[in-house]
Amino acid sequence: MGNPVDCAWKTIAEANVARSLSRAATKWGQPEEMSIELVGMRCIMRPFVAADATSVAVMANDRRIWLQLRDLFPYPYHLADAETYIGRVASVEPPRSLAIVVDAAAVGGVGLELMADVNRRSAEIGYWLGTAYWGRGIATEAVTLFTEWALSAHGLLRIFAQPFASNLASRRVLEKAGYLLEGTMRCSAVKDGVVRDQCMYARLSPGR
Ligand SMILES: CC(C)(COP(=O)(O)OP(=O)(O)OC[C@H]1O[C@@H](n2cnc3c(N)ncnc32)[C@H](O)[C@@H]1OP(=O)(O)O)[C@@H](O)C(=O)NCCC(=O)NCCS
Repeated sequence: MGNPVDCAWKTIAEANVARSLSRAATKWGQPEEMSIELVGMRCIMRPFVAADATSVAVMANDRRIWLQLRDLFPYPYHLADAETYIGRVASVEPPRSLAIVVDAAAVGGVGLELMADVNRRSAEIGYWLGTAYWGRGIATEAVTLFTEWALSAHGLLRIFAQPFASNLASRRVLEKAGYLLEGTMRCSAVKDGVVRDQCMYARLSPGR
């Protein structure tokens, strides 16, 4: 399948993943290796670092974002929430979460939840972007880059997403990132007191 996104980045195999050996000191006292950098036309993606907390807290603290995500994602979103999140994900190797960076600031994130047992080569993707950056193709680029990297880096057969059926922006992002709609899970979620349908989208590893 050709890359559905109109931009000039190369494939991961063509070394679009730049390896940076720089190390950043963290407030938790342990150096963290910035080992992955996915470079696109609109954003770059790299592991979260402690210095991202303020930007993440400002960007994530928006009810329009919370409304489309699991309740695990806090609202209001405080600085302490960002610090806790970054402290949890920053040192995982290989990373399961990457920051979406625009103009040197972390303005969103993409994360992976690995499945277990017979589903162990599947993972669920989740993502969000600060509202000031919506509508510029940034999420499409980030989800595409992340998916292609994660399928390889985590040895996955399948990455799936479950947007609310009413979340047309996210569904469009997934379609542009090469995900296929597999079905609708009727009345499968309750968000903000409302029963929701969720759609199942998936993208498989190359050759599947
Ligand atoms: C989903 C989200 C990441 C999209 O970010 P984004 O940077 O605006 O996405 P893009 O600009 O790459 O693409 C958005 C696409 O959706 C389309 N779109 C946006 N709102 C739409 C709507 N109400 N109806 C139909 N299409 C819509 C845009 O036109 C665009 O498609 P196009 O390029 O074909 O015109 C962002 O809206 C967000 O953070 N939402 C809250 C969290 C969330 O929904 N996460 C996903 C959970 S599954």
